[in-house]
Amino acid sequence: MSELFSLAKAYEKYFKIGSAVSSFGLSAYHGLLLEHFNSLTPENEMKYDLTEPAEGQFEFARADAIVAMAREMGVKVRAHAPVWHNQTPAWMYRDGDSPASPELIYARIDSHSKAMCQRYNGDVYAWDVVNEATRDDPWDAAKAPDESPVYRNSEYYRLCGTGFIEAAFRSMARYAAPDAQLFYNDYNECMPKKRDRIVSLIRNLQEKGCRVDGMGMQQHYFAAPDYDELKRSIEIYAGLGLRIHVTELDVSMMATLNRGEKRLKPGDPGFEEYVREALRATPEKLDKINEIYIKLFEVYRSYADVIDCVTTWGVADDRTWLDGFGMNQNMPRIKQHPLLFDENRQPKPCVRQLLDAVKE
Ligand code: GLA
Repeated sequence: MSELFSLAKAYEKYFKIGSAVSSFGLSAYHGLLLEHFNSLTPENEMKYDLTEPAEGQFEFARADAIVAMAREMGVKVRAHAPVWHNQTPAWMYRDGDSPASPELIYARIDSHSKAMCQRYNGDVYAWDVVNEATRDDPWDAAKAPDESPVYRNSEYYRLCGTGFIEAAFRSMARYAAPDAQLFYNDYNECMPKKRDRIVSLIRNLQEKGCRVDGMGMQQHYFAAPDYDELKRSIEIYAGLGLRIHVTELDVSMMATLNRGEKRLKPGDPGFEEYVREALRATPEKLDKINEIYIKLFEVYRSYADVIDCVTTWGVADDRTWLDGFGMNQNMPRIKQHPLLFDENRQPKPCVRQLLDAVKE
């Protein structure tokens, strides 16, 4: 492929084009990563459970492999999601037979942050310091009086309240290279109620004097995007003084269904037939995914003054976390075709259109 055929190069004056990749995908996607991307996110390799599986015992080999790829690409890494309610080892929350005290948890987060920064400062330009700490469902005061209307009722939250979020940002501000930016990252971030919770979380951090540089908008699409809400959300987050990264963009086949259409869930009668039909990759639905990408990028470009990076969650459709996602366990996995490159790792039509859209 010629130099001209590079998303990253074509979009240089707008924002970086990133991809999440796992250490297992590095050889398969080597060519595409070099050609089209100028930011790299480890899919799992910098999460807590893989980097510090036992307290004080760090394992860096898999994260190192991602960093080595980034160096080969001549780019830096978006380090992803150390402090998160998932993929965190059970020891974090325990002190022998008792629950860990907030102070112990903060000390653990601090030493983890220090170790990660000592190893990767210089290779990392942005950290997703805390991931997904707001709640999804509306708070029901009668049913869950002890829960928060804003925060996810995670083990971290139950033990520390909001303190773990502040501790994570404070530690990162202490140890991260001064030019690396500190992000809060979340999903369903354009849904007005969830967005309000995210805004409260960020305001709380700012009021407590914690440095937050950016908002990571995950942008996983399971429903057709509401482009007006997307624009409003970018403006709201940027209005908090934050830079914006799109951190986990993908467009599930489910996003091609009509908005508001009744959807069956795993376990509902008739679910398997429903989901098989919903995910059937017809040419019309594949076109629709293309069209969604074109429109999303149109919006992103129009906010290039505040958006610094757009990252897809994976490189190509041959391997993505959505294979089998949302299906009954016994069902054969159905592909959802959510990325910019197809199962044969070839650019989809939208890649050409995204390039044409920015041709001088
Ligand atoms: C979330 C996390 C990611 C990843 C995806 C699904 O969005 O932030 O790290 O686990 O889910 O794979």
